[in-house]
Amino acid sequence: MNLYAVIGNPIEHSLSPEIHTQFAIQTGYAINYDKILAPMGGFSAIADQFINQGALGFSVTVPFKLDAFDYATELTETAEAAGAVNTVKVLDDRVIGNNTDGIGLVTDLTSNLNINLKDKVVLILGAGGATQGILLPILEKQPRRLMIANRTRSKAKKLKHDFAKYGETCGFGLDEIKNEPVDIIINATSASLDGVMPEIASGVANGAICYDLMYGKQTPFMDWANANNAKLVVDGLGMLVEQASTAFEFWTGKKPNTEEVLNKLRS
Ligand code: ATR
Repeated sequence: MNLYAVIGNPIEHSLSPEIHTQFAIQTGYAINYDKILAPMGGFSAIADQFINQGALGFSVTVPFKLDAFDYATELTETAEAAGAVNTVKVLDDRVIGNNTDGIGLVTDLTSNLNINLKDKVVLILGAGGATQGILLPILEKQPRRLMIANRTRSKAKKLKHDFAKYGETCGFGLDEIKNEPVDIIINATSASLDGVMPEIASGVANGAICYDLMYGKQTPFMDWANANNAKLVVDGLGMLVEQASTAFEFWTGKKPNTEEVLNKLRS
């Protein structure tokens, strides 16, 4: 059996085993995909142990994506830019760190939702790890304008500076968002975890596609978008399935059918 897993803390509610098992059935690739709970501060010991058991790769989720970044012996360009690793591939004594989160988001937008990012005005809320993870794949799609707005303005400015080599962005405070419509708003803040929606100018949502990276329940951002005439309001379940698909292909070279799995999860 080809051995894989997802490592995180907490981990019991992870959908990754179900998703990867479906991909394996579809593609005829025999897989054993587990959930592994690592203690806080214990990521590398658990990863060592799993690799010694013969693992071919693993997914990494909260709070270990930075640990996995440090653990990898080499990084893909996407992981390097993201500053975090969510997918590890083991090849002999090489441990290759990748990041499929941003590609997952972009694939969900372009392939599942038929939303082309080229020449669009895109506003990202938040400037933490989640934002850093999606910036390069979005920039590669050449939006007309990519704006990063954050509660702490300096962090948005820093991302603008750090990503200048990949493309043009602008960074400012949430309170500086203009009351003018944009094409796409992506909520990459963790505010939904606290059950809040940041106070921002409501006019930006008018006619916009509003995408929350969170999934599993209706978030305050999604309520806000609906209340402010958004054209489409989407949660991050499609991104979850697409990032898993990109990871599966990175490990096995086989491309799964995500539509089937996404429909199953939604129902
Ligand atoms: P993650 O890895 O999920 O991105 P993070 O790196 O801690 O987590 O970043 C959280 C992001 O959500 C930050 O941009 C944070 O804003 P600050 O940089 O100002 O802290 C944002 N955030 C969290 N709670 C928020 C709230 N109630 N209102 C607005 N922004 C919030």
